[in-house]
Amino acid sequence: MSATETLAPAPGAAEILLDIKSMELRYGAAVAVRDVSLTVRRGELVAIIGNNGAGKSSTMKGATGLVMPSGGQVMFRGADTTRLPAYAKVARGLVMVPEGRMIFPDQSVEDNLTLGAYVHGGLKGARAKQTLEKVLALFPRLKERLAQQAGSMSGGEQQMLAIARGLMAEPELLVIDELSLGLAPKIVDQLMRVLSDLNKAGLTILLVEQLASYALAIADHAYVIANGRVARQGPSAALARDPEVMEAFLGKKKPAA
Ligand SMILES: Nc1ncnc2c1ncn2[C@@H]1O[C@H](COP(=O)(O)OP(=O)(O)OP(=O)(O)O)[C@@H](O)[C@H]1O
Ligand SMILES: [Mg+2]
Repeated sequence: MSATETLAPAPGAAEILLDIKSMELRYGAAVAVRDVSLTVRRGELVAIIGNNGAGKSSTMKGATGLVMPSGGQVMFRGADTTRLPAYAKVARGLVMVPEGRMIFPDQSVEDNLTLGAYVHGGLKGARAKQTLEKVLALFPRLKERLAQQAGSMSGGEQQMLAIARGLMAEPELLVIDELSLGLAPKIVDQLMRVLSDLNKAGLTILLVEQLASYALAIADHAYVIANGRVARQGPSAALARDPEVMEAFLGKKKPAA
């Protein structure tokens, strides 16, 4: 086999959307991400799990351009985007729903959604209106509350709004950081189902989640981050069965002998 044949993607393999190569990221002298490499292919739902302070959000901030990595590369759709700012990455389809949602609480639901579509010129165009219709069909609760002040909604509704705002940017890859933050298990279940359905409909998703069992239940592939490194990776089902992953990285006790 020639070198070119070796490098060519396997027949039928989906396009690599996000390819993080040996990322390092620092806050001043503190190293938050030491060495993280991860790949997301078109159509996948990939999970990143790990304990508090492991470096999950920092990895995502480095990937999406909110913080500049101090080493390594962030390839998106085949181009080196390491040094691009976040807004330029959004325009290329790399869209993040940040930890803590970061909606605009004093603005209406509709205004928050309009801001999501900003990268495509707001809600004026026919295409943005179609996207809005689709997003509201997915989240009927938001449709009922378009005029409501976003900050007056429940936590679950605010998370729906944050996801909906991300979808308004028409992502190629939607990154969601801590879907479950502060939400009741029933609401987390509902939102996980929405993500799973979106993924089955074709959306590529990278889900960062502390509640590992929820994330592993819907993801194809998962990465465990510990101390700023990839400690484990593999098919979600295999990681979910790995007692070492559950105990060492996720703080879960082994079942009693
Ligand atoms: N803005 C910042 N300035 C300095 N240090 C930071 C900053 N943000 C994060 N860190 C540090 O970087 C490390 C990784 O934090 P990060 O937020 O990436 O972890 P995480 O895995 O997302 O944790 P969590 O599950 O709590 O969200 C931690 O030690 C944290 O204290
Ligand atoms: Mg985090």
